[in-house]
Amino acid sequence: MPTILAIESSCDETAAAVVCDRHILSNVVSSQIATHALYGGVVPEIAARQHVETINLAIAQAHRESGKTWAEIDGIAVTTAPGLIGALMVGVTAAKTLAMLHKKPLIAVHHLEGHICSALLADPTLEPPFLCLLVSGGHSSIILVKDYTDYQVMGKTRDDAAGEAFDKVARLLGLGYPGGPAIDKIAIAGNPKAYKLPQGRIADFPYDSSFSGLKTAVLRLTQKLSPNGEPLPIADIAASFQEAVAAALSTRTIKCAIAHNLSTIVAVGGVAANSVLRSRLVSMAADHDLRAVFPPLSLCTDNAAMIGCAGAIHLARGETSPMSIATRSRLNLEDCQSLYRQGA
Ligand code: KG4
Ligand code: ZN
Repeated sequence: MPTILAIESSCDETAAAVVCDRHILSNVVSSQIATHALYGGVVPEIAARQHVETINLAIAQAHRESGKTWAEIDGIAVTTAPGLIGALMVGVTAAKTLAMLHKKPLIAVHHLEGHICSALLADPTLEPPFLCLLVSGGHSSIILVKDYTDYQVMGKTRDDAAGEAFDKVARLLGLGYPGGPAIDKIAIAGNPKAYKLPQGRIADFPYDSSFSGLKTAVLRLTQKLSPNGEPLPIADIAASFQEAVAAALSTRTIKCAIAHNLSTIVAVGGVAANSVLRSRLVSMAADHDLRAVFPPLSLCTDNAAMIGCAGAIHLARGETSPMSIATRSRLNLEDCQSLYRQGA
């Protein structure tokens, strides 16, 4: 049961955590959202600079709150890909420094594998195979988790990620950044059946999605409803948009699970915090006798505990990364084994 100190800095959260196997000992997340909200989205250069200012404090706090000595820490895990290069480099530099200083193995982690592992933190009894709906600001995929670290992408978005669609529609409705939580909140007062919006199906690819058409449909709707700047029924539009995304993602996930004989589905990533998506998945899973697992809201968005959980799995398998490991803005999840010493 390895104890791992983990660091995550791939986007706009500076995060550090200590986990023992699948159990969280400390979990520190310093969010930059308030700063980026001023610009309506994440500004990469500002993200990197803020990580520099915060990372040492986050690591020190996570270490202190874990109650573990350095001697009790078995490895340092860090997100090395995918993400914003400048942001990733801050976390990776900190992790390499700690690994060298305290003579610990370095374990590079793929950010999406981290998100998948957030489900293991939510339910430590969870075992593969299971189907994972991974929906965040940058990704929107349905992934077959065949074994730990063995993934097959069954469906993906052809254009915008689900979170990106939430953020763009929220901007269109004047709801600010990040859009997901804002839409989730205002939609409570709206009618999800007020407007019928497209669910972004792709012919012959039942598990793929396209969210850019949905975003354009919302734009057209707002132009039609308010040709001369009349006030918009924002709650109804938000609820109808959220309904379309939740119905699209939950239907595709459940269909895929049934087609591949999987009895467990999990939903992870920032958009998995969405209240309507969660309740839709829970009720559809129950209808089909499937088990549904979700991380708590705090583990849906970016955090280092999920990176630590992935790091513990790799370290237990003897998989560690060379000090020369580089950051990468893109890396397919299926290629995450390339992060470890070959022949390990
Ligand atoms: O996983 P995450 O923190 O970062 C990435 O790796 O991208 O996801 C952030 C995304 C944002 O697009 C945000 O709008 C969305 O997750 N999000 C939500 C909710 N909370 C966060 N989307 C819908 N409903 C929510 N409640
Ligand atoms: Zn993420």
